This record gives sequence, C-alpha cells and structure tokens, in this order.
Amino acid sequence: MRNVKEIVVSGMRPTGPLHIGHYHGVIKNWIELQEKYKCYYFVADWHALTTEYKDPSDIRRWVFEMLVDWLALGIDPSKAVLFIQSEVEMHAELHLLLSMLTPLGWLNRVPSYKDMIQQLKDRDLTTYGFLGYPLLQAADIAVYKGAYVPVGEDQVAHIELAREVVRRFNDIYKTDILKEPKALLTPTPKVPGLDGRKMSKSYNNCIFISDDSKTLKKKIMPAITDPQRMRRSDPGDPDVCIIHDYHKLYSPQDIVEWCEIGCRSAAIGCVDCKNKLLEYMNLFWDPIRERRSKLISNPSDVWEIVESGCVKARKVASSVIKKVRDIVGISYRSR
Ligand code: TRP
Ligand code: SF4
Repeated sequence: MRNVKEIVVSGMRPTGPLHIGHYHGVIKNWIELQEKYKCYYFVADWHALTTEYKDPSDIRRWVFEMLVDWLALGIDPSKAVLFIQSEVEMHAELHLLLSMLTPLGWLNRVPSYKDMIQQLKDRDLTTYGFLGYPLLQAADIAVYKGAYVPVGEDQVAHIELAREVVRRFNDIYKTDILKEPKALLTPTPKVPGLDGRKMSKSYNNCIFISDDSKTLKKKIMPAITDPQRMRRSDPGDPDVCIIHDYHKLYSPQDIVEWCEIGCRSAAIGCVDCKNKLLEYMNLFWDPIRERRSKLISNPSDVWEIVESGCVKARKVASSVIKKVRDIVGISYRSR
C-alpha cells in the first residue's frame, strides 16, 4: 500500500463571501495539496447551521458562491473531491455514533466553545448542535479516514478532540478502522485588512474574491498607508504599510524593492505605489474573475461538478460507515 496517496480532508463554513485572506491563507494551500494527496474538500453547510439556524436563508447562496470561488481559484475537480457536507449524510451517521461515546466534558472544554458563545452573544448558542460542533468535525474527517487536516491555529484543538474520539472508538471496539487525523499547519503570509486589522467580514475591511477591478481600486486608493507619511516629500516606512504587504503577495521582486526603496527615500508617492499594486493585483485576479463570471453564468455546470464529487464522497464514506456499523454491532442487512 506504499504508493497509495494519503488522505486530506478539509471544510469551510459558508457564512459569507470569501476574501483574499481566505485565498492566501487556506485555498492556495488546498490547491497545492491536491497535487500530492487524495483531497476531500467540502462546504460545511451543517456547520454553518450551528450558528445560523435561526436565519439560514443565505446559506444556499453562500454555498454556491463558495463553490464558484473554489473552482475559479483552481481547486481542480479532476484531482480533489469537491462536495457539500449535507449531501453526504454519512457524516451525520458517524457523528451520531461517535456521540454515544464522547464524554460531555471533552466537548465542554474545547477552548473555542466558550469563546464563540461570548463572541456571538446575539445568538443563542447554548444548543446541543453547537456543543457538538467539533464532534461533527471529527466525523467529517474520520468518515474518509483522513490522515491530515489543513487548518489554522484556531482549529488545532478541534483536531486534537478528533484524535481523542477516534482513539476512544478504536479502543472500545478493539479495532483500527478509524484513523487518528493530524493537523497540517502551514505557514501563511500576512494578509491584513484595508484598515490594518485582521481581514474580517465583521470589520468591513475586506477585499473580496468577487470584487471587480473598479471595486478594488475604490478600496485600495483611500486605504491608509504609513500614517507618519503626511506629505509626498516625507519618507515612509513600508514595514508599517498594508500596501507593502500586498505588494509582497502580488508584485514581482523588483517591484517590491522599488516600493521599499522609493518609499524610504520619498522617491515615489503613495498614489504611484498604489497604482503599481493595482496593476499587479489585476494581473493576478483578472483570469480568476473571468473564470468566476463564466461559472456564475453556467450554474448547472457547477452543480454537475459538485454532484459528481458528492457521488465519489458517498462511495468512500458509505464503505467506512458499513464497517463501523459492523464493528458496533448494528448491521442487519444480509450480505
Ligand atoms: N470548523 C472548521 C472551520 O471553522 C470548518 C470545518 C468543518 C472543518 N468540518 C471540518 C475543517 C473538517 C476541517 C475538517 O474552519
Ligand atoms: Fe505605503 Fe507605498 Fe506609501 Fe510607502 S509609498 S507608505 S509602502 S503606499
């Protein structure tokens, strides 16, 4: 079995439009992983429901937009299996079976649990579903026997819980059918929001993947730069400027140096610097925008791709579930 590709599983909650931080921090990594691993990437709509259950009306839209963004960015359905969580109901069955043996204390002490309840005070998150969020995530991974899970620092505790639950399952039933997953932490570049804080929908400081070049210009031109650089003739410090951070993401090395040297010597103004950045950002984003608009005008193509991903995912997940049922002792259908 040495040449069999290892399995990677990851999901994303469809709670709003994707921004460039999602691309540089997550999707870019997913695109690289699909070359080396057997990847399962899904839209975690059930996870979205744990917080959006009172007003789920937008979820369907964000699911579609998310799929469009993934495809436009380069998630390749011939390499990775791309699907929607709720379309593969085996995730829910494994979640239920794992819930039988998961001590409440394990869920109560996941650090993000109390944090999120604090952060989202406007919603009632004292629900069974929300407490079980990390367990559902464990099932998402275990149902494909995922070996690696590319996630951010904030999700490490969830993967740790998944490992513990899988270990407990395997111990109780004297099996090795489920696999303990490992978090795959990859260094991610700094992508600050337009106001210098973390890029986030709730701060209203995002550059969205769906932004066209006009919108992008409207966001970049008024963005704050080095606040000490009041006049064109003042030298600036690129290290405190988000425009410089963006140059590092999009511009070739000689332009990054042009920005750094020109800024420090006041040889260039911020308007020059921003116009140059826009040039290179558009060079990067134009082909993605083009693919995006093609996909948006052919929604049936998108749904077809996803349906074939769901079929593949169900096939793998149902074979794992069948074995799990056997092991737990609740398979009744004759074979
Ligand atoms: N909890 C993850 C997040 O908020 C999303 C997610 C759900 C996930 N199921 C998963 C990630 C399984 C990795 C594997 O980002
Ligand atoms: Fe920022 Fe560029 Fe202005 Fe320097 S010249 S402060 S890097 S925008």
